[in-house]
Amino acid sequence: MNFLLALTLIVTISVQSRQENVTLDPCNDFYDYVCSNDTRSITELNFTSLFEDREILNPNISFPNNGTYITLDQILSPYNLTMWYMAVKLMDTPTVGSEHFVETSREYAKKKNNSERFSFAVEKLENINLTSTNIFYNSLYANIEVLNQLNLPAAEENEFLHHIFDLMKNNTIEEIWSSALSNESKKEFEKELSKSKGFFGLLDYNNVTMLEESKLVYEAEYYRLKSLLSPDDLDTEIAEKIIRLGASDTAIKNLRIPGYQPVFLFSAFASNMANEAFNQNSNIYIGIVTRNDLQQPISTIADTFSVLAHELMHFVYPFGIRLLPSNVTKAANKCTQDEVKMMGDSDAVKPIDGWFSENITHEDLPNLLGLRMVMKMVARKSANEEQLKNALETILSGLCIQGKPKNSILPHHHPFEISINTAVRQYPLFSSLYGCRLGDRMFAEPEKFCNPLGGDVNLEDYKIKNDTEDVGGFFNYIMDTANALEQKIASAKEQKIASAFFCFISFFQQLPSD
Ligand SMILES: *[C@@H]1O[C@H](CO)[C@@H](O)[C@H](O)[C@H]1NC(C)=O
Ligand SMILES: *[C@@H]1O[C@H](CO)[C@@H](O)[C@H](O)[C@H]1NC(C)=O
Ligand SMILES: *[C@@H]1O[C@H](CO)[C@@H](O)[C@H](O)[C@H]1NC(C)=O
Ligand SMILES: *[C@@H]1O[C@H](CO)[C@@H](O)[C@H](O)[C@H]1NC(C)=O
Ligand SMILES: *[C@@H]1O[C@H](CO)[C@@H](O)[C@H](O)[C@H]1NC(C)=O
Ligand SMILES: *[C@@H]1O[C@H](CO)[C@@H](O)[C@H](O)[C@H]1NC(C)=O
Ligand SMILES: *[C@@H]1O[C@H](CO)[C@@H](O)[C@H](O)[C@H]1NC(C)=O
Ligand SMILES: *[C@@H]1O[C@H](CO)[C@@H](O)[C@H](O)[C@H]1NC(C)=O
Ligand SMILES: *[C@@H]1O[C@H](CO)[C@@H](O)[C@H](O)[C@H]1NC(C)=O
Ligand SMILES: *[C@@H]1O[C@H](CO)[C@@H](O)[C@H](O)[C@H]1NC(C)=O
Ligand SMILES: *[C@@H]1O[C@H](CO)[C@@H](O)[C@H](O)[C@H]1NC(C)=O
Ligand SMILES: *[C@@H]1O[C@H](CO)[C@@H](O)[C@H](O)[C@H]1NC(C)=O
Repeated sequence: MNFLLALTLIVTISVQSRQENVTLDPCNDFYDYVCSNDTRSITELNFTSLFEDREILNPNISFPNNGTYITLDQILSPYNLTMWYMAVKLMDTPTVGSEHFVETSREYAKKKNNSERFSFAVEKLENINLTSTNIFYNSLYANIEVLNQLNLPAAEENEFLHHIFDLMKNNTIEEIWSSALSNESKKEFEKELSKSKGFFGLLDYNNVTMLEESKLVYEAEYYRLKSLLSPDDLDTEIAEKIIRLGASDTAIKNLRIPGYQPVFLFSAFASNMANEAFNQNSNIYIGIVTRNDLQQPISTIADTFSVLAHELMHFVYPFGIRLLPSNVTKAANKCTQDEVKMMGDSDAVKPIDGWFSENITHEDLPNLLGLRMVMKMVARKSANEEQLKNALETILSGLCIQGKPKNSILPHHHPFEISINTAVRQYPLFSSLYGCRLGDRMFAEPEKFCNPLGGDVNLEDYKIKNDTEDVGGFFNYIMDTANALEQKIASAKEQKIASAFFCFISFFQQLPSD
């Protein structure tokens, strides 16, 4: 069975800046330097908690029973039950790591027949509470609430953001091809990456009517399944859990969103309010709307670039490490761990004891690789060094965390600020752009540059080229792309269709102004 591997990126942001008194020296702490100026105001949204025991509305359709009952194992196959168990458990990210799913899949595979598999699934379901099996129903509720507050135009796929996704995917493939890896590895990575698809929370398939219809399908299926069970079965908690998962299974299929696995859609809709990003079986979920200031589209798009770069680099670390020479991954892990540890230990705000763990380096490496890739893209659209610096500061400004103490502990990740500063320190042009010198905290000697794909850093890749046309810097160029794409879509399609495939820009233009 497929493993569910989800890697969350950054969590929760609320209003209010928290920096008051920091040394604003880019060579000491670049994160503080940029984020002390964070003027974003993040939209506050109200929605039903995903872990609320909400009663399932009765759609007033009667399901008479003729006296023949079905057994519990006829609602969902043991495979599907186990799969939905994992999907539900996965939403409980603070306590669950991917090892849990690898272990569950392994145990499931050992079961000899359907009855053993069903018992296994039931045993697993007994370990989660009833409320958590309500999560998909609650998430439909919450999505409807949030979409009604945001008042977004309905879309299937957001063309601009999917264009950005393809652009980033192509650049990741290019990074792989320009590395020192073997041709076989490069081909394998290209194959894996080419398959990947993105889903932008609340911006893709965000038609409220469609979600309301799915909610109704859930309700009808829930009561239909109930009518099929004997009174004795209905009395049990396990029956209630299985029915809820059965109704989720049917409602998700009814969403009519092609190209994504049901489990991925389940996690995506449940994550829409939670500001997360993850890479699950080659599909990437990106939640960007609810953790940004909707009046600052450039910061939001910069955030999208960072999140996408991080998730795409997960194809290498940890999913693709088998395709890398072990001496390369060993050296890269060691190098990155040393860097992260040094940055954490020398931060003016000390993270709490025990913050560092060697086995989560696969979250720092994608930040390092991702920032390098984005800065190479930036270099190709920058005409001077000021534009390089502006782009780097824009990227950071999209990542500033508000409303939480610096270096808070995150599940399965090192403190965000430390990981980001490490990536910046490892951006090969950083010190020359900001005039940092040996002894400065953010200064890395060239021989300390980590090489996660093997080979050496080539400084030329990061430098502006003399013949680059001045398009006003990378993010200006990207916003121009959005405008051009919007015009193309508007002229190529009828107005009605154009509004269904709205662009990023029009999305921001249509938001209420406070
Ligand atoms: C800010 O700086 C002042 C003077 O150096 C110091 O007394 C105060 O404790 C600092 N506040 C914070 C929050 O670091
Ligand atoms: C932060 O804001 C101050 C005052 O507006 C400005 O002088 C400084 O350049 C800004 N720093 C960054 C990194 O944007
Ligand atoms: C969100 O809830 C708070 C408190 O319940 C309320 O004051 C506010 O008006 C609500 N906002 C929206 C957009 O519904
Ligand atoms: C079902 O019927 C009851 C009573 O007629 C009504 O209160 C309730 O709103 C109805 N539910 C739905 C989902 O239409
Ligand atoms: C009773 O209902 C079940 C489920 O709807 C159906 O499969 C079965 O054929 C029905 N039996 C009779 C005797 O009508
Ligand atoms: C189990 O899941 C598979 C794959 O999602 C689906 O095709 C099938 O209909 C499901 N079976 C049941 C009994 O739900
Ligand atoms: C059920 O589990 C979820 C996730 O761990 C938790 O947030 C929730 O509070 C629990 N609910 C109850 C009623 O224990
Ligand atoms: C990405 O690469 C594919 C295949 O080479 C190409 O068709 C597509 O236009 C590229 N997309 C972008 C946005 O660069
Ligand atoms: C939203 O979904 C409903 C129901 O599926 C459909 O009738 C409507 O055309 C959709 N709206 C848009 C703008 O796609
Ligand atoms: C890994 O080993 C190969 C030869 O086996 C060598 O060429 C390469 O430099 C080594 N890489 C690292 C990072 O040690
Ligand atoms: C990860 O490291 C921590 C301590 O650094 C340890 O407690 C934990 O068991 C490790 N997890 C795995 C899966 O190795
Ligand atoms: C390109 O620009 C760099 C500095 O920006 C300069 O040193 C170099 O001479 C220029 N090269 C050409 C061919 O103009």
